[in-house]
Order: sequence, then C-alpha cells, then structure tokens
Amino acid sequence: MSDHPSIFISVDGIDGVGKSTQIATIRDSLEQKGCSIEQVRDPGSSAIGTRLRSLLLESELQMHRRTEAMLFMASRCEMIETTIRPALAEGRCVLSDRFLLSTVVYQSVGDASCSNEAVAPEMLWELGALANGGLRPDLTLLLDMPASRAMERIDRPADRMESRGVEYLETVRRRFLDQLQYSSDRTAVINADQPPEKVSADIREVVSSVMS
Ligand code: TMP
Repeated sequence: MSDHPSIFISVDGIDGVGKSTQIATIRDSLEQKGCSIEQVRDPGSSAIGTRLRSLLLESELQMHRRTEAMLFMASRCEMIETTIRPALAEGRCVLSDRFLLSTVVYQSVGDASCSNEAVAPEMLWELGALANGGLRPDLTLLLDMPASRAMERIDRPADRMESRGVEYLETVRRRFLDQLQYSSDRTAVINADQPPEKVSADIREVVSSVMS
C-alpha cells in the first residue's frame, strides 16, 4: 500500500494535443510518489467499452447525436463499474485518457456533416452523473492548444470526429475551456503548445501540488 491516498485524474483536450505522451509523464510522476496505477482510456477499458469504441470511432454508421452521446455514456459506465471503482477501492490511483468532459464537449458541438441537433451541455452533465453513478475525477487536466496546431500534429488517418475539420475542432477547443470548471473540483489548463519537456514540467507541478 502506498503512502498516498488514491487519486483519480482525467486528462482531456482536442485530438492532436499530445495526450498520450503527457499521460506517460503523469504515470511516471505518480509512480515516483509510490502510487500503483490503473490506466484507462475512454471510450474503452472494458469488454463492452472496447466494442462500443469501434462502433463509435471506426464505423461508417451514421447515428443520431443522442444515440452517440448515450453510447459514450454506456461505455464509461462499464469502465467505471468494472475497472475504476475496484481500483480506487484497492487504494490504487486511476489515470483516465478522457472522461465525461469529452462527451459534454464533443456531443454538444454541432457540425455540418450531421443534420440532427447537438445535445445541450447541461443535459449531458446530468445524464453523465447518472451514467457515472456520481463518480467525478479528483483532478482534470486540460491540454490546450489552437486546433490548427493540433491538426498539424495528427500523423495517422483521422477518426470519425477528427474528419470533421479544423473549424469544428476549434469550436470543440473553446467548449473544453468553457466546460472544464464543471468536470472536477480541481482543474488545470496546461499550455500544450510548448516543447514537450516544458509541458511535462507544468503537469508535474500541478500533480505535485494536488498530492502534497
Ligand atoms: P482519443 O483518440 O483521444 O481516444 O479520442 C477518441 C475520439 O472520440 C476523439 O475524437 C474524441 C471522441 N470522443 C467523443 O466524441 N465523445 C466522448 O465522450 C469521448 C470520450 C471521446
């Protein structure tokens, strides 16, 4: 058992901001503090979540925005109940690549390729509280940079959300900045448009201040 209480950290931001690299940094700094880590990615990290992830991100199927929102919610519910709660109950630290904030942001932003209406953020927070059984992260880190810069950094085929284009992603970025405050009691915006070592140093400072 570590000297530190378990902590649940979520990391969010638009596609291309360097989340994977920085999650590895957070993992290292938590391990150095003696935490045992459960790392998850949303959507995914459960048997049902993995199937829902491919339905949501890889499939060519068109779906209503409310259907999309509820499938992301269902995936997260499974991840919480099968993986996150058991890990926290064992005193482990949980590090989540995205969480409810992502649904509130992505599913509330309308886009030209989809004729049906986006869902209001307030409704998504409410539905999310139900789906999550009230579980919220202790800390949410938002990696932020202009969408145009983030798009330049994506070096793989775009997924269903990314293929909506740079204007869509810039709106998503602004919605992240608006909605971050409701994600957790402790939140931080990290400037991700800096050399990766500087981004890592900024993140380490926030994580240390929260755990001290
Ligand atoms: P990732 O590549 O960072 O794992 O994110 C997967 C994609 O899914 C990304 O484009 C954001 C999108 N997404 C939503 O639209 N709603 C959600 O609730 C989540 C978790 C992700």
